[in-house]
Amino acid sequence: MDAIVSVTADWGIGRDGSLLVRNRADMKRFKELTMGGNVIMGRKTFESLPGGPLTGRKNIVLTRSRDFAAEGVEVARSIDEALEMADAHGGRTWLIGGASLYGQFIDICDEAYVTYHDCVLEADAYFPNLDEDERWTCAEVSETDFTASGIPFHFALYRHL
Ligand SMILES: NC(=O)c1ccc[n+]([C@@H]2O[C@H](COP(=O)([O-])OP(=O)(O)OC[C@H]3O[C@@H](n4cnc5c(N)ncnc54)[C@H](OP(=O)(O)O)[C@@H]3O)[C@@H](O)[C@H]2O)c1
Repeated sequence: MDAIVSVTADWGIGRDGSLLVRNRADMKRFKELTMGGNVIMGRKTFESLPGGPLTGRKNIVLTRSRDFAAEGVEVARSIDEALEMADAHGGRTWLIGGASLYGQFIDICDEAYVTYHDCVLEADAYFPNLDEDERWTCAEVSETDFTASGIPFHFALYRHL
């Protein structure tokens, strides 16, 4: 399983249930990378998706609730159950958030595809700081580009050592 995330300079990822930065290039890349694969997400991230389940991908939602159900998703009550579902489908598996899932399961990811925005915005949800974690190394960094609102960003690939 690989993680994919969009962060600001202090590894902020969200506020009030929403993303921090609007970045079309990042959304396009997210779609391209995850298309055809399995996406594992927390119940809160699922509920924040504007268009419901992500099309063209197997959506697996993690919840502890026995009552949660939604059309177009498989519901798992543990990460092991989610990974079994993903294995049964085959293909690549992506951990797509949110903060709670990243925090618990980053250690079982092989790679992290990080879109790094060079700005700090008020956040209430964070990704683990991989630059301060010696078990992770930054293997590739793209050239800097800019969002429509002028925020510099680049894509970074981190590998779990
Ligand atoms: N920047 C990015 O790339 C990115 C990506 C995704 C999300 N986000 C942001 O992250 C924030 C949401 O993160 P969050 O931490 O509040 O929520 P979350 O991780 O999306 O979902 C948390 C929920 O997942 C379920 N859960 C968590 N751990 C579980 C486990 N071990 N077993 C079973 N179920 C488990 C629980 O659901 P129940 O309460 O139903 O039991 C829990 O309340 C939002 O601001 C969102 O915009 C950012």
